[in-house]
Amino acid sequence: MIKIEARAKINLFLEVTRKRADGYHDLETLFARIGVADTLSFRKTKEPGIRLRVKNGPPGLKQEDNIVHKAAVKFFGVFGVNPAVEITLKKNIPVGAGLGGGSSDAAAALIGLAKLYMLPKSAAGGLMKIAAGLGSDVPFFMLEAGAAQGYGRGEKLKKIELAGRLPSIVLVYPGVPVYTKEVYGSLKLGNPADIRARRADFLELSGLLRRGKFTRERAGLLFNRLEEPVLPGHKAVRLVKQRLVQLGADAVMMSGSGASVFALCWDKAKARRMAAEAGRIRGYRVFLTKFC
Ligand code: C5P
Repeated sequence: MIKIEARAKINLFLEVTRKRADGYHDLETLFARIGVADTLSFRKTKEPGIRLRVKNGPPGLKQEDNIVHKAAVKFFGVFGVNPAVEITLKKNIPVGAGLGGGSSDAAAALIGLAKLYMLPKSAAGGLMKIAAGLGSDVPFFMLEAGAAQGYGRGEKLKKIELAGRLPSIVLVYPGVPVYTKEVYGSLKLGNPADIRARRADFLELSGLLRRGKFTRERAGLLFNRLEEPVLPGHKAVRLVKQRLVQLGADAVMMSGSGASVFALCWDKAKARRMAAEAGRIRGYRVFLTKFC
C-alpha cells in the first residue's frame, strides 16, 4: 500500500493580466504549499476497475465526478495499464475554498499511481500533461517545491525554494463556497499601468522569498486581484478579513478565488492566540499552519 499527503496551497500573489480567447485568464501568481493536507492511499486489488472511497468528502458527489477518479481514468488510459486499484481519499482541506484541495488530490492520485505501478522517471512529462488537463492548479502540486511562480492559466511554473524565517499562517474558511468560474466571469481587469506596477511587486516578492528576505515590513507586497469580484458579494469573507486585521496579523489576504482567508504572522505565540480567537467566530474552520 502507498500513502501520500496532498497538501493545500495559498496564493501569496495573484494578478490577472488578460482574458484569453479560450475563456481562461492569464495569471501571474505565487503559489505556496502549506501544512493542511488530505491523505490518499493506494492498493492494488484482484478485481479489475477503479474503486474510490472518500471519507469526510462533500456529500452527494458521485465517485465518477470526483477529480481523483478522473485523474485515475486518465492515468490508466494514457499509460495503457489495466486498472485494478482501490484509492482511499481522506478529506481535510475545505472544498471550494481557494486552497487547491481538489487539484492537490488529483496530483497526489497521479503521483501515487505512478509509484504503485512503478512508472519510470521518463513518464514525468506524460503525467504533467494529464495534470494540466485536469485543472489549472494541478501542475503546481506535481512539483516538489514549497512555492512557485505560475504563469499562463497557472500551469506554467517556475519553482521557488523558500528560504529564511517564514511567518506562521492562520487560515480561516468561512464556510461559504465560491465558484471559481463565476469569480473570473465577473472580474474587471486592471488597467495596463496597474498590471505593470503589480508585476514589479510580484517579481520583488518572489525574489525576497527566494533569498530568504521576506519580512513583515514587506508583507504589503501580497495581492489578490480576485478579492475585487468576491468581497462585495461575500460579507463573511469581508468580516473574516477585518477580524484577522484587528487581531494583529502582519498581512491578511483571500486565497485564490476564495473564500478562504489567510493571515501571516511572524510572531508564533501571537499566531496561536489569533487562531484561538478566530476559532470563536461563528464556528468557522480555522487552521494554524505553516509553509512546507
Ligand atoms: O482550470 P480550472 O478547472 O481550475 O478552472 C475553473 C474555471 O475557472 C475555468 O473554467 C475558468 O472559467 C476559470 N479560470 C480562468 N482562468 C484561469 C483559471 C481558471 O478563467 N487561469
